[in-house]
Amino acid sequence: MIPPSAVSVFAFVAAHARALFALPAQEVVLGASGSGGAAGHGRALFFDIQAHRGGRGNTVENTLPGFAWGLINGATTLELDNGITKDGVVVVWHDENITPQKCIDTGPAFPDDPDYPYVGKFVANLTLAQLKTLDCGSKRQLGYPHQLTFPHTPISTLKELFSFLECADPQHRVLLNIESKVDANWDNRTRDPLTFVEKQYEAFKDSGRMDAITYQSFDWRTLVAMKSLDPTVMTSALIDDETAAETETEPSPWLAGLKLSSFPGPTLGEQIAQAAHSIRADIISPAATALRSRGVDPEGEAYEGFVTREMVEEARRLGVRVKPWTVNRLNVVERMMNWKVDGIITDYPDVVRRWASQQNLPVAPRYPKQRVFSCLDRYMGRR
Ligand SMILES: *[C@@H]1O[C@H](CO)[C@@H](O)[C@H](O)[C@H]1NC(C)=O
Ligand SMILES: *[C@@H]1O[C@H](CO)[C@@H](O)[C@H](O)[C@H]1NC(C)=O
Repeated sequence: MIPPSAVSVFAFVAAHARALFALPAQEVVLGASGSGGAAGHGRALFFDIQAHRGGRGNTVENTLPGFAWGLINGATTLELDNGITKDGVVVVWHDENITPQKCIDTGPAFPDDPDYPYVGKFVANLTLAQLKTLDCGSKRQLGYPHQLTFPHTPISTLKELFSFLECADPQHRVLLNIESKVDANWDNRTRDPLTFVEKQYEAFKDSGRMDAITYQSFDWRTLVAMKSLDPTVMTSALIDDETAAETETEPSPWLAGLKLSSFPGPTLGEQIAQAAHSIRADIISPAATALRSRGVDPEGEAYEGFVTREMVEEARRLGVRVKPWTVNRLNVVERMMNWKVDGIITDYPDVVRRWASQQNLPVAPRYPKQRVFSCLDRYMGRR
């Protein structure tokens, strides 16, 4: 079996050409030797450009307007995060708690609610009705000066996102990379791994988009549990220097009890590839840049990467794909692509897509803006 990253640019282009003539199904499976291609299960259509949190560089993160712009910008995959409310609803949000940097209180869900104000509280300690009062679209994030805001945007449930997509992407073309935001350090800050797996799986199934979904997590317990619930769900093992850190005696709390140093090396990168393979992860999603790196660009000073060539090559040897995050600089994109990664998770899907087009990589089509916006209007409750 040839790992997809070994598939030449020529094959990508050929697959793309076939795709154009294969409309409207828009699904082309590479020959029997292909193991899934650039994006998604049997779908080897496009180079996998993932819009991180919908494309946080362009639009307020993890919101329907953000995902709308991810579609309009031609992302192959919408990347997003899930939390679970006190009353057990899967919502699309990154943070464990509601921060004043992102959300604004608008009033209590019911008179004299003792939990009000909600900003500052944990998602796991608020009900959906309470969360729904928040405006999480008015604040532009520091460090993302191009970010469009969409005032009065509420946090969405995962179901609401799927409904919006049914309107905006009725052909089920877009791929989804959906994260479980479980806190492996603090079991009282989020719901437990099994609750995540069960509730997310139920929503995935109901969406009819199981084929398009990758399930990702830093907490590998959820990946193991998801595979045992349904081995056909594609999983992606997130990792960075923090979640990889272990002591002489103790494994990291994030890696389902695995001790990286017990896997064959010689480097940490190879051990990570081996460990992810051992839990049957289909993909590894490593940080591109080390958290402790003092530089931001490989061409500049004091840059320290986290993903390594050894990690990518070992993963390829094991048949595991590699899709690093969050890559917002083309210098880093090019470095990753020289190592033949299988996708790029970025806050700027439009920028990476422009680069990929120039390289003759097949890129996903842009969705028509008018249609996407009319769907957005409908599902933002304006119509
Ligand atoms: C918050 O939710 C977590 C997870 O469900 C729970 O363990 C914790 O006790 C809750 N804390 C409060 C203050 O309600
Ligand atoms: C979780 O537990 C710690 C220590 O037991 C406590 O300090 C903290 O407030 C708790 N957090 C929540 C969200 O309940």
